[in-house]
Amino acid sequence: MRQLCIATMFALGCLCTGQASAQSALMKQAQGLFKPIPTTAPALPGNAATPAKQELGKMLYFDTRLSESHALSCNSCHMIGMGGVDLQETSLGHRWQHGGRNAPTVYNAVFEVAQFWDGRAKDLEAQAGGPLVNPVEMDTTPEHVIEQLKGIPGYTAAFAKAFPGVADPLTFDNVRKAIAVFEATLITPNAAFDRYLKGSEEALDANQKAGLELFIGKGCVACHNGINVGGSMYAAFGVIERPGAEILPPDDKGRFAVTKTASDAYVFRAASLRNVALTPPYFHSGKVWDLRQAVAIMGNSQLGADLNDGEVDRITDFLGSLTGDQPQVMLPILPPSVATTPRPKP
Ligand code: HEC
Ligand code: HEC
Repeated sequence: MRQLCIATMFALGCLCTGQASAQSALMKQAQGLFKPIPTTAPALPGNAATPAKQELGKMLYFDTRLSESHALSCNSCHMIGMGGVDLQETSLGHRWQHGGRNAPTVYNAVFEVAQFWDGRAKDLEAQAGGPLVNPVEMDTTPEHVIEQLKGIPGYTAAFAKAFPGVADPLTFDNVRKAIAVFEATLITPNAAFDRYLKGSEEALDANQKAGLELFIGKGCVACHNGINVGGSMYAAFGVIERPGAEILPPDDKGRFAVTKTASDAYVFRAASLRNVALTPPYFHSGKVWDLRQAVAIMGNSQLGADLNDGEVDRITDFLGSLTGDQPQVMLPILPPSVATTPRPKP
């Protein structure tokens, strides 16, 4: 390319150089709006990571005995190896019940401003208790989680190692802490877009760059910005035009349930778009399976922009560049149950 530029420079004037600097301007703009995913797990305030705590958190994440039925673990709905989601419209929980919302990915969740579609848990540690006690998810109680884990001898030692120097380390708080520390490792660096943000022009192809330009120019970036290309603020789903009931079910008023403020009706956290190509179906309702359709809906509902097919395609190409290295997790060997271990309740 450079040779070609030099060879044709005199004939074509500064066309090639001109193009190069236009690309750099886009890169500079992107660098001001977004941040790459780091390559190492971020530290959690007041919850220092140690290998023993991470390992315990991983065990708890995969252990179905944390659920009342012993049939569900965190991994049932947030599958490692499958984008951290379950690819269901709404998740299947306790006794085959469906919850009301689509399961967001746990990957990069550590970077979100708060957890859940409505931001009702302030961080991963606060979040981790939620699904355990949710009747349509794992349907247990904090007391039963502790009784269960104390009934599995191997966990006593694992908690003592993860929380050294504490008289009674096997507590519900520490269950949440350990899970949060493991979840903080579930990050996806090195997406093509991250390499671009770090200065590699070749990391994105021409279509993805055109998509990035539209993503910024059309205004998607007003809500989808920062490290997770979203996940940092709340907005109404339907700022300009409220989607129909088949996509935005009227009974789920989002953040209104958290703040009880009228203006928060149908307000949700602007979704993180990291790995979005891997995590259909889309929106809190999980009603849209095609990413292109989700992009077109956003154009109408959030921006009043009737994106044409070409624009939708380019933006979707750009979103594809947000797929990073997926976490490689070695399955933990879980401590065995013994005769006295509390049994599953179907
Ligand atoms: C039965 C399915 C199910 C199980 C089991 C489950 N989750 Fe979830 N998870 C969901 C759904 C659905 C949501 C979204 C709920 C909402 O926003 O109201 C969610 C939300 C989350 C979030 C918030 C992500 C974000 O971007 O806001 C995290 C983190 C998470 N779950 C972690 C866990 C952990 C840890 C466990 C195990 C202790 C677990 N989940 C068990 C279905 C499940
Ligand atoms: C005014 C803020 C705002 C703007 C502007 C905006 N979005 Fe969104 N976006 C949101 C919110 C809020 C959600 C979550 C909606 C829900 O499911 O409740 C979302 C969800 C999404 C999703 C679904 C992600 C998932 O995992 O379910 C995609 C894809 C998306 N936006 C892409 C875009 C694109 C592309 C644009 C520009 C054409 C755009 N958004 C403009 C706020 C915004």
